[in-house]
Amino acid sequence: MGQPACHRGNGLEVTGLCKDYLADRGRQRVVRDVSFTIEAGRFYSLLGPSGCGKTTTLRCVAGLERCDGGEIRLSGTVLSGPGRHVPPERRDLGMVFQSYAIWPHLTVFEHVAFPLRVARPRIARAQIARLVEETLALVQLSELAGRPAVAMSGGQQQRLAVARALVRRPRLLLLDEPLSNLDARLRDAMRGELRNLQRRLGITTLYVTHDQAEAMAMSDRVAVMQDGRLMQEGTPQEIYHQPATRFVADFVGRANLVPGTVEERLAGGDILVRALGVTLRVGPSDAGPGEQVTLSLRPHGIRAHPTRPDAPDVLAGVVISAEFLGEIAQCQVQVGGVTLTVRQDPLTPARIGDQAFLEIAPQSCIVLPDDGPDADEVTG
Ligand SMILES: Nc1ncnc2c1ncn2[C@@H]1O[C@H](COP(=O)(O)OP(=O)(O)OP(=O)(O)O)[C@@H](O)[C@H]1O
Ligand SMILES: [Mg+2]
Repeated sequence: MGQPACHRGNGLEVTGLCKDYLADRGRQRVVRDVSFTIEAGRFYSLLGPSGCGKTTTLRCVAGLERCDGGEIRLSGTVLSGPGRHVPPERRDLGMVFQSYAIWPHLTVFEHVAFPLRVARPRIARAQIARLVEETLALVQLSELAGRPAVAMSGGQQQRLAVARALVRRPRLLLLDEPLSNLDARLRDAMRGELRNLQRRLGITTLYVTHDQAEAMAMSDRVAVMQDGRLMQEGTPQEIYHQPATRFVADFVGRANLVPGTVEERLAGGDILVRALGVTLRVGPSDAGPGEQVTLSLRPHGIRAHPTRPDAPDVLAGVVISAEFLGEIAQCQVQVGGVTLTVRQDPLTPARIGDQAFLEIAPQSCIVLPDDGPDADEVTG
């Protein structure tokens, strides 16, 4: 195959995107002023809980929905904007839907050929055969070209859906939870396959998922959505280590959220916070003495000891539940009125009722800003 078409241009720019639906409560804004940019060739994920507006955002980018505000540009060309709506078939993109349809009467080959057969201007037969064969080889389905598409495993059907989205060599690939129908093992394998394929083709990709591990493992950048808004975007590391809100901290990985009061600011910006009956040193923050704050403590930043270690500010508690997950083990420890989730050594897991002495690593402790106004307003 020659140079993939997707290297052209400079990616996707979404600015101030809004979308309203008519619902029982009247007109409801389900995508609210969403802006993000995907550089050409990058893998970008929208991550958020069910109903937060991920699919709607994707459908607006695909042109399947008309926007109620904002602008969408691909390689500098406006696709959606005031007075402009380019229809989906003229957007030069491929999409895998949340529930992708498999037509029982078509072979694998015909499935992938379909977008080419309906393309205008017409594509010559020989050219169609060549493109389909190349694409099936990319997703390792060449051997199955003559088989009815229903006679395939879940993973093969998923690859087929990706092949169909890629066969026209689009500039942009849109994927809506493409792995959610697969079992856990296959999902992990397909995650790697899909990412490798995307890298090899260098195709700009917008991926939608509610699975934070998937988003972290696959993406160059992740945007976290809540109630139609984009709360934070950054690399997986930034989102995980510097969550901008309580919601992001809690949704991306597990976090123990604990109230505290700032005692002192130290030279260099670190602060001392009184929380859980001890004083904790916390990474840089603007909060001043006396201020009430919420601390996020990651489970792997808390060490549980069976006997009191010789360290300052150790928390004493009791194990109230324990989970052994194979590679990791974690337990819940009751400390005063608060329950903390703590990572522990899977070789010497604690048991329910055991005493636990907790040591908190300062670098795993961050101060979370306020989440701002409640996002649950209704417009119109
Ligand atoms: N056609 C529609 N008409 C009215 N409301 C809709 C329509 N489609 C979606 N909604 C509403 O818009 C909101 C966002 O839906 P959307 O499908 O974008 O969520 P999502 O983030 O993709 O969720 P999931 O993870 O469950 O797929 C939801 O409250 C949903 O009920
Ligand atoms: Mg969805």
